[in-house]
Amino acid sequence: MRCLVLFSIFLISFNASSRKPISASRLEKLSGVKHNEDTKTTWDMRYSKRSFIYGKSPAKFLAENYEFIPHASSVLDIGMGEGRNAVFLAQKGYKVTGIDISSVAIKKARILAKEYNISIQAIVASVEKYKFQPKSFDAIIVFYYVDRSLIEKIKSWLKPNGIIIYEAHTIKQRNKPGFKNDPIEYFLKEQELLTMFKGMKVLKYEEPEHGKEYRASIIVQKLN
Ligand SMILES: C[S@@+](CC[C@H](N)C(=O)[O-])C[C@H]1O[C@@H](n2cnc3c(N)ncnc32)[C@H](O)[C@@H]1O
Repeated sequence: MRCLVLFSIFLISFNASSRKPISASRLEKLSGVKHNEDTKTTWDMRYSKRSFIYGKSPAKFLAENYEFIPHASSVLDIGMGEGRNAVFLAQKGYKVTGIDISSVAIKKARILAKEYNISIQAIVASVEKYKFQPKSFDAIIVFYYVDRSLIEKIKSWLKPNGIIIYEAHTIKQRNKPGFKNDPIEYFLKEQELLTMFKGMKVLKYEEPEHGKEYRASIIVQKLN
């Protein structure tokens, strides 16, 4: 409902103001709905199904490459969702913290952890606002959560020599059924991860040209 209200206000404002879309902050003022509240509501609704919408198995790239992260070290999972990747790493002996804006997702992640008899630290919060201490994680993973304004913060939360594993869809995926209405900024431009993590050591990069899904995946290491 909130989305509908926001969208209607957006349309009205778009038509009335010489074709220039209004900014997110103006939209917040007009609608009275904060951007983050709306994000949380949307994700809570998506996750309210009984089943795990992304499954319980880890992303393939993580399952194949997790050993780039030093054994038993601390890992932060940003936009953890229902915990498929966090729980996998905890099973492998890592100390995992996960953060997600959706309380419904976090509840399911806790259930998944219990199912496998392991523990994770799960935080319900927006990563845009949450303040982790600088240099507090040996590794940070981000799967299918694209927010370019976070990259410098992510780097600062890593310890020296820390590892980032990041994967998201590339723009070609937007032509696939089910993705057309997603905001364009959720998709990576071609080769974008290589520029996003400029200054870090690239340990692995994949951007398959063919396949069921168009995605890019990277593993980088902080140098200091
Ligand atoms: C496409 S899902 C990916 C979930 C998980 N990483 C996975 O691969 O299964 C994106 C996730 O980002 C979360 N998210 C969106 N905005 C967020 C924010 N500002 N802070 C924290 N999490 C957020 C959503 O709730 C959702 O769980």
